[in-house]
Amino acid sequence: MKGVILAGGTGSRLRPITHTGPKQLVPIANKPVIDYAIEDLKEAGIDDVGVIVGHVGSDEIQAHLGDGSDHGVDVTYIVQGEPLGLAHAVGCARDFVGDEPFVVYLGDDLMREGITELVADFDQETYAASIGLQEVDDPSRYGIVDVDDEGNVQLLVEKPDDPPNNLALIGIYVFTSDIFEQIDRLEPSWRGELEITEAIQGLLDDGKRIQSHTVHGWWKDTGKPEDVLHANYLVLDDIDGRIDGTVEDGAVTTGRVDLGAGSVVEAGAVVKGPVSIGENTTIGSDAYVGPYTSVGDDCELRGVHIESSVVIGESTITTERKIVDSLVGRKATIRNTEEKKPDGTRLVVGENSTLDL
Ligand code: DAU
Repeated sequence: MKGVILAGGTGSRLRPITHTGPKQLVPIANKPVIDYAIEDLKEAGIDDVGVIVGHVGSDEIQAHLGDGSDHGVDVTYIVQGEPLGLAHAVGCARDFVGDEPFVVYLGDDLMREGITELVADFDQETYAASIGLQEVDDPSRYGIVDVDDEGNVQLLVEKPDDPPNNLALIGIYVFTSDIFEQIDRLEPSWRGELEITEAIQGLLDDGKRIQSHTVHGWWKDTGKPEDVLHANYLVLDDIDGRIDGTVEDGAVTTGRVDLGAGSVVEAGAVVKGPVSIGENTTIGSDAYVGPYTSVGDDCELRGVHIESSVVIGESTITTERKIVDSLVGRKATIRNTEEKKPDGTRLVVGENSTLDL
């Protein structure tokens, strides 16, 4: 079976973070989200992977994954261009997948238990597609599915105002080539996209059956900043801790800490796991890095108290203010200012940002 990862789209809900790169490369515990999808596909025995890319972020994704050999898979890039919807993106993979069943994985989704069972259980003699499901708290953000008492899929609806229940499509699908006929028939939805949810409903309307698989381990769509922080929390909860860098005498590290090569925790610094620190990063002698924090490569942290946060990389943080529940984009500087200034906080706020002061 081949796999298709959808990595087009503009990532508008993650701006300003996605002004400097695609959302599929946002690191969760110092690993880009898309790498988790590749690992899950590989674990399910799929090593021929098509990656759908759009206009935005395509170069960065290709530079990161290359031909896939570093990840043990063969990667073929398929250009979608404009993000016209998930169904349009899947339709672009038609030549790549041919007539065989294939797996579609949304490139900004992350799931703990992987996809091996869902893929292995797919019964192509009986079903035209299989979908992964999980109960959610906020059903109007997702594709929602109604199933009968025997677990048969009855109805699918995308981001309903009035959800029939809270069973969401989690962004992992197995399709037979029947899906392409349905995609050809779609019209843009209220949000102007060709919806894969509607294409699957089309299969049902044609009398075909849809297999469903409820996923019990956690699953996260990393589309919004708070989701990135939550995903980081969930992944860090599972790390073992591994020190490749240097912990100086007099530094304190407790709990599970990943410290990448070339990174230094200076004497006097405190790092309390679970924490992931990338490569060539300095945690200065007076800094505190608290639980559920990831700090990327090439950062310098001095004087700061930071916890439950993600610092993507190449950033310098030298403020003495406490930073919590924060997502810091690449090449950021957070510092104290000595300038005489009116009482208040000076801000440079990107488009679509939310600041909780
Ligand atoms: O996360 C699960 C949800 O994902 C499902 O419950 C929904 O039914 C499904 O429609 C989808 O909803 P989202 O609105 O969250 O999808 P999003 O726009 O975030 O796109 C998901 C991935 O697909 C993301 O990696 C970007 C990529 N994509 C998106 C579009 C619109 C493409 O490759 N091409 C596109 O045209």
